[in-house]
Amino acid sequence: MTLSRRRVVLGVSGGIACYKVCTVARRLTEMGAAVDVILTSAAREFVGPTTFEALTHRPVLTSLWDRDAALAHIQLDRAADLIVVAPATANLIARAAGGIADDLLTALLLAKTAPVLIAPAMNDKMFAHDATQANLATLERRGWAVVGPDIGPLAEGDSDEPGRMSEPDVVVAAVERALRAKDSRLAGRKVLVTGGPTRESLDPVRVVTNRSSGRMGRDLAAAAYARGADVTLILGPSNITPPIGVRVVRIESTAELQSAVEEHLGAADLLVMAAAPADYGPVQYSPDKRPRANGPYDVSMTPTADVLLATRDRRKPGSVTVGFALETNDGNQRARQKLKAKDLDLIVLNLANEEGAGFETDTNKVTIISRTTEEAVPLLPKREVAEKVLDAAERLL
Ligand code: CTP
Repeated sequence: MTLSRRRVVLGVSGGIACYKVCTVARRLTEMGAAVDVILTSAAREFVGPTTFEALTHRPVLTSLWDRDAALAHIQLDRAADLIVVAPATANLIARAAGGIADDLLTALLLAKTAPVLIAPAMNDKMFAHDATQANLATLERRGWAVVGPDIGPLAEGDSDEPGRMSEPDVVVAAVERALRAKDSRLAGRKVLVTGGPTRESLDPVRVVTNRSSGRMGRDLAAAAYARGADVTLILGPSNITPPIGVRVVRIESTAELQSAVEEHLGAADLLVMAAAPADYGPVQYSPDKRPRANGPYDVSMTPTADVLLATRDRRKPGSVTVGFALETNDGNQRARQKLKAKDLDLIVLNLANEEGAGFETDTNKVTIISRTTEEAVPLLPKREVAEKVLDAAERLL
C-alpha cells in the first residue's frame, strides 16, 4: 500500500484508451490511493461512471452542473496530491493549453494548485501536428509532467509513430513516482542496483551459475524508481521483465559485473548489491566443447573477484552501500563479518534454507543489519522487502 493517504484526481477525456485507464484507476486504488475520477462527456461515450465507481469505490463526477458539484473543481484540486489526465486527447490538451474551462475537468485544470501528470493518446498525425506539439510544449513549460505517448498499434491499425497511450503499468509507475518522490531522500539521487546470478563459462556451451532469479534486484530497482531516483540495474542472466523507468545494463560473468559496477560506482549515492555472483569459475576455459565420450569431467575451480569488496575505496563520499548475505548456517554472525569486512552500511541477511526466502521465490524473509541495529522483516513479497531495505538505506543518506 505504497500510496495510502495519497489523493489523486483522475481526469479521463474521450479516447479509446479510456478502457486502459480503468486498469490505472484500479491499480492506484489497490495501492492505497483515494482516486476521484472526473469523466468528460466524450469519455462517457467510451466508459460509463459506474465502471469507475466500482473500481475506485468513490463517486465519479461528470459535470459542472451535477447536484452538489458547484465547487467540485476547487475542492477536489485542493485535496489532491496529484491530478492525472489519462487519456489526454488532442482536444483536452488544446483546451487546457488555451485556458478554456467549459467542463468540470478543464475548469479544475484552470483552477488547480496541485501538480499535473498527463498521458496523451491520439492518432499519430494528430500528435505530430504543430498545434498539438505547441500545446504540449506550453503545458510542459507550465510544469506539467507528460508520460508517453508510445509507438504501437492505434485504434485504426498499426503505426510506427507515437500516439498510443503508454501502457497502464507505465502510467501507474509514473504516478507513483510523482507522488512518492516528494517524500523521499532518494529523489533525484543516483541508485545503482545489481541483481541476478552471473555465469562462468566452462566451454562455449556449458556454464557454472546459481539459482538466483534476479527478482530481488528488479524489485529494489523498481522501488527506487518509485521514490524518484535515477536508477541503473546491472542484471545478470535472468528472464525477468526489466522494471519500468530503469536503465538496465546486461552482464554475464562476474568479471563483467565488476567492470559494469566500476563504471557506474563513482556517481552512485546508493549501491545495493543484490546480485548473486557465481563465486567460482573454472580455472581453464576450453574453446572446444568437451565430448561426453571423454568420461568423467574434473573441473578445477577458482574463486571469482569479490566485486563488493573491490568497491570499498572507490565509493562516492557520503554514499550508502548495502550488501546481501545468503547463508545456510550461522547467518547472523557471518552477515556481521561481511558487513565489517566489505565496509558496508547495511547487510540484508536471508537464509537459503528458509521456506519462501532466498532464490526462485516471489517472497523473502530478511534481517536488515547495520553496525548498531537489527531489523527482522517477516516473510513478505520481494517488492515489500525492497521498500524496507530502501527505508533503512534512506535513513542513512
Ligand atoms: N558479492 C560480490 N562478489 C562476489 C560474491 C559476492 O560482490 N564474488 C557480494 C554479493 O552481491 C553480496 C555480498 O557480496 O552483496 C555477499 O555475498 P555472499 O555470496 O553472501 O558472500 P561471499 O562474500 O561470496 O562469501 P561466501 O560465499 O563465502 O559466504
